Amino acid sequence: MSKITYSISSLNSILKKARPSQVCIVTSGILAKKLKWAINEIKFSNIKTVLIPDGEKAKEWEELQKLLAQFSKLNLDRNSIVIALGGGTVGDLVGFAASIYLRGVRYVQIPTTLLGQVDSAHGGKTGINFLKYKNQIGVFAVPLVTVVDTRFIRSLSREQIADGLGEIIKAGLIKDKSILSILNKETLNSLPKSQRLDSLVKKSIAVKLSYTEKDFRDATVRQILNAGHTVGHAIELKYKINHGRAVILGLIQELQFTESLGLSASSVRINLVRLLNHLGITMGKKMKAGWSSVIHDKKITGKTIQFPVIQKEGKSKMVELDLNSLKKFIEKV
Ligand SMILES: NC(=O)c1ccc[n+]([C@@H]2O[C@H](COP(=O)([O-])OP(=O)(O)OC[C@H]3O[C@@H](n4cnc5c(N)ncnc54)[C@H](O)[C@@H]3O)[C@@H](O)[C@H]2O)c1
Ligand SMILES: [Zn+2]
Repeated sequence: MSKITYSISSLNSILKKARPSQVCIVTSGILAKKLKWAINEIKFSNIKTVLIPDGEKAKEWEELQKLLAQFSKLNLDRNSIVIALGGGTVGDLVGFAASIYLRGVRYVQIPTTLLGQVDSAHGGKTGINFLKYKNQIGVFAVPLVTVVDTRFIRSLSREQIADGLGEIIKAGLIKDKSILSILNKETLNSLPKSQRLDSLVKKSIAVKLSYTEKDFRDATVRQILNAGHTVGHAIELKYKINHGRAVILGLIQELQFTESLGLSASSVRINLVRLLNHLGITMGKKMKAGWSSVIHDKKITGKTIQFPVIQKEGKSKMVELDLNSLKKFIEKV
């Protein structure tokens, strides 16, 4: 079971109780400067800081090796605690490194991007990229605690906020339509300072946990969290756009597809496009998924695909669909 706390001060009492031999904060050089205020709030007598590269570069094999070497150099032992301070890339690398160092030391997630706070820091997936493929090597490992402090959101750019909103919108569509109602009262500009931000983040986390806690290893119900991702991943790969934007495009196109099969209400897609306009998220030129990347989707078996279908706002289910009908749809988008 994941433990979540919503402030760094409560992390300090958890650390005190856990009595680690050492605490090691891992973050990028850029974030160590930008988020000095947060590092200063973490109180423990013996804190070390290790810097890793910023962004996706952190998830390279060589960086894992370097980080483990740092752990060893600092003499971290089985009783140490490692803190991942940063976005999804930091959480993924550090969670993985902590889980294999000395067969596993405790780690804490402090997600600092919107995507990290609502998505990547929950559910226990950790890992790195390998041979040009994303997240190929990793383990499921639950952190000691995840600290979700929305003060981090204030220093994010509009683009980074839009990125996180992709997963938040998805959470609203698949399970909790009150998320969509909140978003309809906000814009990209208003959200970072909004009083509704905390509740939006908490509701989105609750949606993710409602699936990951029933299906930790992603074999059944957790797969509904992949709504928008079959098409989205293929678009992300082809156009090198950020994940959240790709998920939004994926959601729209997948809704068009399931609508054509009579499985989704057309109002879902129409309202979604209206919401994006309202928020100030512009989607730009038309993007088309490549079929060869779509068929790499892990949910495909033979001639069918297990597909997350959003029936109406806040209601979804997995449905086995004919692969050929998806292919025809993708080719004519
Ligand atoms: N483990 C999972 O379940 C899971 C789920 C989704 C995504 N992911 C992974 O997450 C990664 C993407 O995460 P991300 O979008 O957080 O990217 P990221 O970690 O690369 O962070 C994006 C940028 O935001 C900056 N940043 C972070 N916090 C900031 C702050 N508070 N203020 C200003 N700038 C800040 C960072 O310096 C970085 O340049 C991908 O590698 C993806 O595979 C993992
Ligand atoms: Zn995603």
